[in-house]
Amino acid sequence: MSYQANFRVWRGDSSGGGIEEYEVEVNEGEVVLDIVHRLQATQAPDLAVRWNCKAGKCGSCSAEINGRPRLMCMTRMSTLSPDEPVTITPMRTFPVLRDLVTDVSFNYTKAREVPSFIPPQGLKPGEYRMQQEDVNRSQEFRKCIECFLCQNTCHVVRDHEENKPEFSGPRFLMRVAELDMHPLDDAEGTGLDRKRTAQEEHGLGMCNITKCCTDVCPEHIKITDNALIPLKERAVDRKYDPLVWLGSKISRRR
Ligand code: SF4
Ligand code: SF4
Ligand code: FES
Repeated sequence: MSYQANFRVWRGDSSGGGIEEYEVEVNEGEVVLDIVHRLQATQAPDLAVRWNCKAGKCGSCSAEINGRPRLMCMTRMSTLSPDEPVTITPMRTFPVLRDLVTDVSFNYTKAREVPSFIPPQGLKPGEYRMQQEDVNRSQEFRKCIECFLCQNTCHVVRDHEENKPEFSGPRFLMRVAELDMHPLDDAEGTGLDRKRTAQEEHGLGMCNITKCCTDVCPEHIKITDNALIPLKERAVDRKYDPLVWLGSKISRRR
């Protein structure tokens, strides 16, 4: 069954813009990205939109559909009411380049600030052994497609540009958590304390575990329960561990 939908799309650039309305044909089985492509093909050839795989795997087509952060290629038109207008706006947390395309370089900056896996000394690749539960944890976090919907949703930076320097966001705190819980990561052997960096450099304390990031993750990664809360527990354990406290007093006296 085909019908004409009322599409409201944000058009503009960094200097400003607004919502423009279009009537577009919708056919059975289509997703929002199909309609945006039809709009480009028939009425708005200069409409800027980022996409790549149309399969929920490249993380490029993130936007806000009726105010909810989502992938356009994974949002079926059948889940939206045909009688109501469909409003598409760019992700709000990142600066607009043009129309639905935002500048997500904030995320690349934060990614570079997390030191990568530090291989264990004395073991060659191929000699690494891990418990299955540790493998499972890393595998869950590595399902991330870097769509940055979680980063866009988190209220710490959404509408709070001033928090961006101190806060890396759920996607990169999850990366710190993954490495801190990785049984073979040798950060401590090199003097790198990932728990301390989580608090002091990535703003872990600003997260108040609202789970909004988890709610929008298209890969259904339990970001808050499996990464952020355990990382907070580990950071607190380290800070208030009486032996660590005693050790720091002794070394300070020396
Ligand atoms: S749980 Fe933390 S990181 Fe996730 S949205 Fe809430 S404040 Fe942001
Ligand atoms: S954790 Fe989920 S929401 Fe966040 S960037 Fe990765 S896939 Fe997207
Ligand atoms: S186009 Fe790749 S995730 Fe939507």
